[in-house]
Amino acid sequence: MEHALDITLTVNGTQVGRRVPARLHLVDFLRDELGLTGSHVGCEHGVCGACTVRVDGDIVRGCLMLAVQANGCRIETIEGLSDSKELAPLQKAFHERNALQCGFCTPGMLMAAQDLLRQKRSVTREEIRTHISGNYCRCTGYQAIVDAIEEVMRTEVINGQG
Ligand code: FES
Ligand code: FES
Repeated sequence: MEHALDITLTVNGTQVGRRVPARLHLVDFLRDELGLTGSHVGCEHGVCGACTVRVDGDIVRGCLMLAVQANGCRIETIEGLSDSKELAPLQKAFHERNALQCGFCTPGMLMAAQDLLRQKRSVTREEIRTHISGNYCRCTGYQAIVDAIEEVMRTEVINGQG
């Protein structure tokens, strides 16, 4: 029988405690144990970015981190950032610019894009492309995604400089 461990972590502001198999990945824990299915599972080996979540403020691959490694950490998922409206400008821009089709990559893409926007600085389209280069989209060709991120960045940097 697989070794199990007790973990306690904060997920989207709520403290959660569970006994989990030692080898359970964080994204599977979030999806299967907590029902937070907005984080997707694509490649399962750190390439596609569909499983991107925030751990203690940094974005990580939920398929490369074990749930037990997140013990004591603060986790934020697409659900939490949507509910808090932190992603509202990006979600609006993605919608208006058709920056999604099937939507499979979108949660991870939004998490990665927001990670860049939180830096509160103006970046080039090339830098946007580099920042989301670990997030694969099979549908859009990326142009509209970069357009949407660039639009929000310009608005937020201009407003930030007030
Ligand atoms: S499922 Fe984690 S990077 Fe692809
Ligand atoms: S919208 Fe389909 S994979 Fe990106």
